[in-house]
Amino acid sequence: MSSAVNSPETISNARRLNVPGFRARKRVEPIVMLTAYTARMAELLDTHCDALLVGDSVAQAVYGLPSTVPVTLDMMIAHGQAVVRGSKTAMVIVDMPFGSYEASPEQAFLSASRVLKETGADAVKLEGGKSIAPTIAFLMERGIPVMGHVGLTPQAVNVLGGYAARGKDDAERARIMVDAMAVHDAGAFAIVIEGVVESLAIEITQTINCPTIGIGGSSQCDGQVLVVDDMLGMFQRTARFVRKLDNLSDRIDLAVSSYAAAVRSRSFPGPENTYSR
Ligand code: KIV
Repeated sequence: MSSAVNSPETISNARRLNVPGFRARKRVEPIVMLTAYTARMAELLDTHCDALLVGDSVAQAVYGLPSTVPVTLDMMIAHGQAVVRGSKTAMVIVDMPFGSYEASPEQAFLSASRVLKETGADAVKLEGGKSIAPTIAFLMERGIPVMGHVGLTPQAVNVLGGYAARGKDDAERARIMVDAMAVHDAGAFAIVIEGVVESLAIEITQTINCPTIGIGGSSQCDGQVLVVDDMLGMFQRTARFVRKLDNLSDRIDLAVSSYAAAVRSRSFPGPENTYSR
């Protein structure tokens, strides 16, 4: 097992992409972002990604939960610590879980400051539009960089009734545009646009001054993010917009069946893997 992960004493954000650097990428160079939940995966992604999102999608990807709603602040902090430990140059952004920020700007500050202090991450992300904009301004004014998240907001699944694409009719499209503007005007340094019709993702990207990060949006967004386990093919069923670049679940199945067969036939471990006196 690798020991190349950062130890608490060596963690420094000096070499990481920072907020001004992230903002400066708008209309200059696409931003590459993936989710990460563990130190080893963060270590593997770090050299290729500008930013790593410790997403509350950890719910489905790691814990087998049906939605992101049950995720707690302590879970996000533990995974945030692992991802900061495993990475060196990527900006690390930690999702604020459902229930940790909506009650008031003060609640959001207490939760988000815990995240930054206890993980060493660079920023937090929170879902919502116009109604959460005053909270975003409150955090930004107090030194907590916030990435916004509009369009399909999975934490609101119980209100939305599912994960269908958003912005298909004019009224909803206008609401999402208002949300994006409000989050932008509140000072968010970037905004994730999830699961909206392509023309809306393009319109938002062209209208606002901070980078947009698309997931099921448009290739014209300023950057892209995907759940890493979806991209690697760990799940058979994924959202339509996911592009699988590998089929890890099949490859794991093959490797584990070889291991099981070798154990059952008593040919594991081989002589080269045993100690002799
Ligand atoms: O939790 C997550 O992985 C996310 C991305 C889908 C943007 O919020």
